[in-house]
Amino acid sequence: MSRTTIAAVLADGQPGQSVDVAGWVRTKRDSKQGLTFIELNDGSCLSNLQLIVAAEDAETFAAELAKVSTGASLEASGTLKESPGKGQRVELGLESLTVLGGAGEDYPLQKKRHTFEFLREIAHLRPRSNTFGCIARVRNAATFAVHRFFQDRGFLNIHTPIITTSDCEGAGEMFRVTTIDLEKLAEMPPRTLDHKFDFFAKPAFLTVSGQLEAEIFATATGPCYTFGPTFRAENSNTTRHLAEFWMIEPEVPFMDLDGDMRLAEDFVRAVVGEVLEHCPEDMAFFDQRIDKGILARLEAVRDAEFARCSYSEAVDLLTASGQEWEYPVEWGTNLQAEHERWLTEEHFGKPVVVYDYPASIKPFYMYVNEDAGERTTVRAMDVLVPGIGELIGGSQREDRLDVLERRMREGGQEPSEYDWYLDLRRYGTVPHAGFGLGFERLLLLLTGMQNIRDVIPFPRTPKNAAF
Ligand code: 4AD
Ligand code: MG
Repeated sequence: MSRTTIAAVLADGQPGQSVDVAGWVRTKRDSKQGLTFIELNDGSCLSNLQLIVAAEDAETFAAELAKVSTGASLEASGTLKESPGKGQRVELGLESLTVLGGAGEDYPLQKKRHTFEFLREIAHLRPRSNTFGCIARVRNAATFAVHRFFQDRGFLNIHTPIITTSDCEGAGEMFRVTTIDLEKLAEMPPRTLDHKFDFFAKPAFLTVSGQLEAEIFATATGPCYTFGPTFRAENSNTTRHLAEFWMIEPEVPFMDLDGDMRLAEDFVRAVVGEVLEHCPEDMAFFDQRIDKGILARLEAVRDAEFARCSYSEAVDLLTASGQEWEYPVEWGTNLQAEHERWLTEEHFGKPVVVYDYPASIKPFYMYVNEDAGERTTVRAMDVLVPGIGELIGGSQREDRLDVLERRMREGGQEPSEYDWYLDLRRYGTVPHAGFGLGFERLLLLLTGMQNIRDVIPFPRTPKNAAF
């Protein structure tokens, strides 16, 4: 007899069938009639399988049952029966029971509601809770949906480097990678740092984006995407920022901003649709326990076109809104989270794509629209979604060598440092475009969870890299 997952037992198990299961005890309870009920979970689905020890078997199992408590691990086999109880189709009449590992009364995940703050402190155990089990399965389904979306469209998955010597976003928010002994360095006289003694013989960092390398492949092997860890040393302690997060970055040759916006919208709607289709039980849990109404809202994201508005229109809407903003709105300033959320939540009431941002607030690689003096814009776009704000940032890329070099200089980048990137414009340059979607922000959208620290297994944030 081979072991069956609880998901398979609950979905397909037939009364009379012998099955072998293993997992962790959620609860144990004895009935007045002398029966013992054990709720067993193995992580394959949200639901538990109910194991039942008949009154007449109580003595046979007494020694093992004494070791069964919340958190204990066990193997069990028996025969499935139709369940008279509500909420489950079948239950397991126990014929054999082996406790693999007990868990005492100090097991931190006792059967009660714990705060998410507390669960973050026990990130090694929280996947055994209902909420974090659901998040893990939805994260898995969303990962698969991302790959399927691009694979179905013939995109190549490219593994871009994690260690880099260039700052794609030009924002200087990078973690340094070094083998220099910093403790020793601290003891040396000042001005002794010579990069030639470091591992890469020059300053190296963890990547903030795989885009520049993705552009290499987009202009060689065609449409591609990356899906990897991304690092930002921005000291923002918000519920939307991580120091380490996962980003999906497609890059497409012969595509302009309009095609880019279309791709981004199709992508988000497809992934939402696929998760709704493949995780009905987990999604129902989020709807009931985490964020009432999330199912209906996600169905709307899947089914309805996103709104579109230019940055200039957005600024007009925001200034005419009569709202009291913490950060004043003025053409040329960055939209803050409060502005983004008002646009998508209050004004449009659905996801909105904002495009054509001021050149002065955007990185060097974005395509410059016709010169409009101080009001010159770039072909950039952000996808804003309710509850979160910015989910995606992307652009058509600057494919003209002279303009790109000028923009680099204006932004304080030294063109010679990006020689290989400029070669893509020297040899066979083409219009191309792409975007980056923050995977954890997508998971906030999908689950209704409020804090980005709860949708990544092991969050890294300022002053926190435990586990
Ligand atoms: O808008 P960003 O900075 O764009 C880029 O990195 C481009 N190179 C993408 C491209 O065109 N290929 O980041 C893209 C997305 C954001 O919209 C946001 O969802 C997410 O990455 N993001 C973060 N997510 C979590 N924590 C952070 N600190 C994040 N910073 C950005
Ligand atoms: Mg952005």
